[in-house]
Amino acid sequence: TDKDLDEVYSFAVQLGKDAGKLLLEAAQLRYSPTRQSVKEQLVEKENAVDIVTKTDEDVEAFIKSSIAAKYPSHKFVGEETYSKGSTRSYLIDDSLPTWCVDPLDGTVNYTHLFPMFCVSIAFILKGVPLIGVIYAPFLNQLFTSCRGRGAWLNETQALPLVRNPIPPMPGNAPGGCIFSCEWGKDRKDIPDGNLYRKVESFLNMAAESGGRAGKGGMVHGVRSLGSATLDLAYTAMGAFDIWWEGGCWEWDVAAGIALLQEAGGLVTTANPPGEPTTADIEEVKLGSRLYLAIRPAGPSENESGRAGQER
Ligand code: IPD
Repeated sequence: TDKDLDEVYSFAVQLGKDAGKLLLEAAQLRYSPTRQSVKEQLVEKENAVDIVTKTDEDVEAFIKSSIAAKYPSHKFVGEETYSKGSTRSYLIDDSLPTWCVDPLDGTVNYTHLFPMFCVSIAFILKGVPLIGVIYAPFLNQLFTSCRGRGAWLNETQALPLVRNPIPPMPGNAPGGCIFSCEWGKDRKDIPDGNLYRKVESFLNMAAESGGRAGKGGMVHGVRSLGSATLDLAYTAMGAFDIWWEGGCWEWDVAAGIALLQEAGGLVTTANPPGEPTTADIEEVKLGSRLYLAIRPAGPSENESGRAGQER
């Protein structure tokens, strides 16, 4: 019911704040003389950029036990619980209310004290992310959303934030937009492989005469924050016009998708050839590999204005 959802939302927001506080305390420790011993806690998973710290595990354990105490019948899908030995598969099933959590998105940033890291908590019902809580404690930015209740920055500012001038929606005319794309963790040096295609896409996005940028004017910038979750939050905020990444897991995107959709943005998915493909914009299918997000339209951009508006 609505009342139940309100209660889950309040619980999720408080949980995000508490978990973010733990992240902040742990990050502040890294400034201390004990930094060397903290550094030893890095553990590599698939490769040297796919790392996990004790903080990821501790914060996930805190979130998992808090949820289990309050909602014992709910399912929990967390990055550190699932990444041990699991294969890439569709982790969210529709049968139970599910919490999908990344205790620390942007782990590499965190280990470098680059402030773009956050905790990401999503509540999912029947496969649909209804609640998103994203807290980046170093930035003091708390993003929250609940289906039908709005999307917010620091609980007071409705998303998207108003930007002036608002550039055209990027689909047809990317001039003046900021695009965002992550490098991801697949660094295999294979011609035509994932990494090469990403490099090419960065070039296409940035070049004066290249690819999409060439067709509709030069983009203002191309960014990689190092956190897929914050990329989605910044797209919901309207700071990014487009974000895409191939190779995401559910916990990287679930809360960000809830936030972006509630703010009025669009997200769509795709998979590499041979894997099931979904292009369902309304109820985006978690478990896809590639996500493309477009910021919400600004106040003067009606639906038809999405295709491109003169500045
Ligand atoms: C990663 C970050 C990174 C993105 C990867 C994610 P993690 O999450 O969001 O920016 O490129 O796809 O897995 O490992 O820092 O939680």
